[in-house]
Amino acid sequence: MQGQDRMVPVYASGTQVLEKIHEKWKSTKQRYPAMYSSVVGGIILDPSMMVIPIDDHMVHRGHGVFDTATISDGYLYELDSHLDRLLVSACKAKIDPPFRRETLREILIQMTAASRCKNGSIKYWLSAGPGDFQLSPKGCTGSAFYAIVADAAGAATSRNKDGVKAITTTVPMKHPFFAGIKSVNYLPNALAMAEAEERGAFASVWVDEGGYVAEGPTMNVAFVTAGGALVLPAFDNILSGCTAKRLLALAPKLVEAGLLKSVHDARISADEAKQCAEMMFIGSGLPLLPVIEWDGQPVGDGRVGRISVALSDLLRDDMNSGPERIPVPYSGSMKNDHH
Ligand SMILES: Cc1ncc(COP(=O)(O)O)c(C=O)c1O
Repeated sequence: MQGQDRMVPVYASGTQVLEKIHEKWKSTKQRYPAMYSSVVGGIILDPSMMVIPIDDHMVHRGHGVFDTATISDGYLYELDSHLDRLLVSACKAKIDPPFRRETLREILIQMTAASRCKNGSIKYWLSAGPGDFQLSPKGCTGSAFYAIVADAAGAATSRNKDGVKAITTTVPMKHPFFAGIKSVNYLPNALAMAEAEERGAFASVWVDEGGYVAEGPTMNVAFVTAGGALVLPAFDNILSGCTAKRLLALAPKLVEAGLLKSVHDARISADEAKQCAEMMFIGSGLPLLPVIEWDGQPVGDGRVGRISVALSDLLRDDMNSGPERIPVPYSGSMKNDHH
């Protein structure tokens, strides 16, 4: 709008509003090939139709939790551990899910099948639900479950084979209670990410008040000490990373192969961590990204280390052929839009 005298359009009919929304989604439609809303009670294929009530407490009070999972070559990777974490988050946030775990899981699998997406990710939210604009969730009519499929087609994948830069963020860290809940309150995380980008880094790292390394804004960190130990910061004041835990389970293979001396999670100070031979970011979207520079100083010899490469291969193999995959039943999915 240009001047104050311009009138704000008033749309009395839903059709006119829909036309506007269709216009907005026209170019990006294929990126979200399927969605789900418990308010609607089904899978939605047109992003224009995926609406969240504005009086949903997740929207105006941040009273919601979420999680993700990767779709890799037609399989959902590690869905169960992400779903477990979602339910832990929901419990801590006093959100009683609208469905049992099995139903939530089935909805996510059917939504992925309906999307026909073979590579990408799913994201899903449990919310205190719509109701009113009060702070208390008492007026909510019932908790809600929302989900989307994000197609990875066209997304950059191999951008960081050469390693990335990290910075220590100045953004205050979340209190351990809140860091352990994957809630929609990601303002500190978004600011930490923005700070990294402003300073030419891929992502930032939180160091706690005691000087110990915590985590990144949407990822965990790991180190290989000069003595050959793989160390991940303990999960007591950070989010319990599904990929980090998987790495802890897989990495002993490198001990057997003689590449690593040991594997464990522990408190590690930033001073100690900066003496390490290798450093990496770990998270479901990555799944592993070597860090070659931290706060302007080279990590180890400033090049991607061989343990990082070996660990990355372990995670990739696990995604491609490991036991934590659920085949998506694409052929069984039905479009109900003709009914
Ligand atoms: C704050 C934070 N830490 C760590 C992670 C890594 O967790 P995951 O491996 O389950 O993606 C994430 C991503 O969900 C995150 O948001």
